[in-house]
Amino acid sequence: MCGIVGMVGGDLTIKKLVDALRKLEYRGYDSAGIAFRTNEGLRVEKSAGKIDVLESHLGNMMSTGVLQGMAHTRWATHGEPSDFNAHPHTDCTGKIAVVHNGIIENFDELRTALESNGHIFKSSTDTEVIAHLIEDHYRGDLITALRHTLVDLEGAYAIGVMHQDHPDIIVAARKGSPLVIGATQGGGFMASDVTPLLKYLRDVHFMEDGELAVIKTGNVQILKLDGTPKVKAPTRITWSEDAAEKGGYPHFMLKEIYEEPQTLRNAITGRIKSKLPHFRELEKMGEDLTKIKGITVLACGTSYHAGLVFQRFVQDYAGIRAEIDVASEFRYRNLPLGEGDVVIAISQSGETADTLEGIRKARQSGAKVVSLTNVVGSTISRESDAVIYINAGPEIGVAATKTYVAQLAVLLLLGASLALNKRNPEVISQLVNEIEGLPTVFESVLASADEQCQRLAREYYQFRHFMYIGRGYSYPSALEGALKLKEISYIHASGYQAGELKHGPIALLDRDFPVFAIIPEDELKAKMLSNIMETRARDAKVVAICSESDREVSRAVNSRIEVPKVSAPLYPLVMSPYLQLFAYHVAVARGYDPDRPRNLAKSVTVE
Ligand code: F6R
Repeated sequence: MCGIVGMVGGDLTIKKLVDALRKLEYRGYDSAGIAFRTNEGLRVEKSAGKIDVLESHLGNMMSTGVLQGMAHTRWATHGEPSDFNAHPHTDCTGKIAVVHNGIIENFDELRTALESNGHIFKSSTDTEVIAHLIEDHYRGDLITALRHTLVDLEGAYAIGVMHQDHPDIIVAARKGSPLVIGATQGGGFMASDVTPLLKYLRDVHFMEDGELAVIKTGNVQILKLDGTPKVKAPTRITWSEDAAEKGGYPHFMLKEIYEEPQTLRNAITGRIKSKLPHFRELEKMGEDLTKIKGITVLACGTSYHAGLVFQRFVQDYAGIRAEIDVASEFRYRNLPLGEGDVVIAISQSGETADTLEGIRKARQSGAKVVSLTNVVGSTISRESDAVIYINAGPEIGVAATKTYVAQLAVLLLLGASLALNKRNPEVISQLVNEIEGLPTVFESVLASADEQCQRLAREYYQFRHFMYIGRGYSYPSALEGALKLKEISYIHASGYQAGELKHGPIALLDRDFPVFAIIPEDELKAKMLSNIMETRARDAKVVAICSESDREVSRAVNSRIEVPKVSAPLYPLVMSPYLQLFAYHVAVARGYDPDRPRNLAKSVTVE
């Protein structure tokens, strides 16, 4: 996730562009840059670090008046955060500048072809290929050059383009990444979301996939890919600037849960080739991956719960022996790791101290470490043998939500790729196909999930304890549901394997101690139903989260939430937004701010 903004015409200054960019800093903050056109020509300034760094780099240029400009705040996906890799990117002539949010999947092939035609690249980003392709296609008409370029691109993008010879327009295109445009007599505008635009206009066009736009003072022209015009009515935005920053949601946590369909798309993008999972990042590990003796998963908190799903899945599907440990335990344990062992270290922030120490220990012992993180250039990414980015974009709410969903999607694809040698490819491709369909499934259930969870939260928010139970793939969901609830609502909640209840925890249950049962339609459902009966016999109220239209479960419990039917290993994914939304609404009903839970930090860099 990156933020892009562009303005043209009116009394535009560099300061206006930088101020607008600040509204998008939540979308990424590892580097920033700006391209602007003055009477002298097109110029690009950029630097690694937050927008503050760019601003001090620009110094007294800030008040310079410009004809047009585009700015970018980056959350790296390809290429470390650095001055060179910061956007905007330019072509060989330096006349074309491009800002981009998204991932160009086929950039490797495109770059090789462009280089063999003499193009010289200045960065290691996927984006730079766009500037060079436009240069190749340009014959005096910028929109035609962009249209032809889009034909070459695979992946997701929101793109803004400026050309020195066209100082009165910005051209833009979208596929899979958000882009909003609009114009007044005071100028033309584009941005990743409405927040930077609200100061200037309220009537905007949300671009759709397959649309291009020419943005200028006074009007925007929207085109289809074939160049024919498209007529669209603008949307009037009534949000305040503060509400707009959260996308109109009251909290970042809720906004981030609603972003999960797109998060899933970004996590999956580039990881499926000919219907099978494919991880280019792992190619350099070569033989190490085909000769795996065993896998050890290493993580903390929510990332550990994602790891539990992976551990089970990789054993089930790939037949590889897999262990898991919380990183704070792992680092002080004597584990017989060595050649042939692969450690999968999972850390959203890429900075968790315990996970990092675990990685160091594992590498010292001779194991290879593959890390899974959201932050390009983080310490964990630098200290691993290979790194897989989950591409979830920055998460502002302290409780992990969309990053958990991204971790699960990537881990399931990774597990499926490790199973390729053992399983019929048909079985793998069916599962991959189901994973590919999940963004749409998420889109179709989120609003009703929110409603159901809010209703349930109103019923249960006053209880002081909660017990989450599950079996098999649903045990990690029980742990994660309990963690979400306790960390933002401060209700005591524990997660147990349902079969363990009778070994102690059941003694706690009574009418004041409800049970949250994770009971999808899978091979363990009958066992779960028996466990639910045991809890009902102790007078405990039971809330179930079950597969849609499950009458058996509905008869056995007090309240229920239904989720779409999927294959067993995918239930942890589809359960996630429901568990998160329930915790969110309970926290709000209790009067707490779910974005800032007490005593917690987003990145835990101490032991
Ligand atoms: C819970 C949560 C934490 C983190 C844990 C590990 O919502 O966010 O439990 O999952 O602190 O953090 P990372 O994944 O950054 O290593």
